[in-house]
Amino acid sequence: MKTLIVYGSKYGCTEECACLLRDELGETDLADVGRPHSVSLDAYDTVLIGSPVYIGKLDKNVIQFCNARLATLTEKRIGLFICAGEPDKAIEQLEAGFPKELVEVARAKGYFGYRIQLKKLSLLDQILLTGVGKRRNEEDIRRGAIDDFAKTFLQEH
Ligand SMILES: Cc1cc2nc3c(=O)[nH]c(=O)nc-3n(C[C@H](O)[C@H](O)[C@H](O)COP(=O)(O)O)c2cc1C
Repeated sequence: MKTLIVYGSKYGCTEECACLLRDELGETDLADVGRPHSVSLDAYDTVLIGSPVYIGKLDKNVIQFCNARLATLTEKRIGLFICAGEPDKAIEQLEAGFPKELVEVARAKGYFGYRIQLKKLSLLDQILLTGVGKRRNEEDIRRGAIDDFAKTFLQEH
């Protein structure tokens, strides 16, 4: 059985982390919940779900996907990960943001770092960003955390 990584990403950081994770795992498919297509979960025994954090909340498409497929997802091997600019609060935000049924069954919860590129942001996002105390380009993608997360799922096979 295969692994599916489902993710949302507004400016590409979570997408890049999802790709790095896939490269560690081998036979793994990727699905961007921001693109309209329906994902069948039948072929997968493992589903890894990733989201960025915006103003304290996870990506709404990711949460909609989780809620719509909750019963099926809780039968799978689940891993949850986020990208967020506040490392100290990251796991707390993950646990508060994903449905509790998934947090309870998750075999790994990962914080993969973040990236902020001011030039890419919409004007509104530039304004909102100052509210979370960030004013510069920043990048801290945590490959070690991605490797550790991947190992959890490789070891269990
Ligand atoms: C407008 C805006 C608001 C953000 N709000 C938060 C936040 O509340 N908490 C946090 O930890 N990170 C916050 N971040 C940082 C993002 O989570 C981080 O840049 C992440 O890597 C974005 O992922 P993406 O490129 O996949 O969309 C915010 C970033 C932006 C641009």
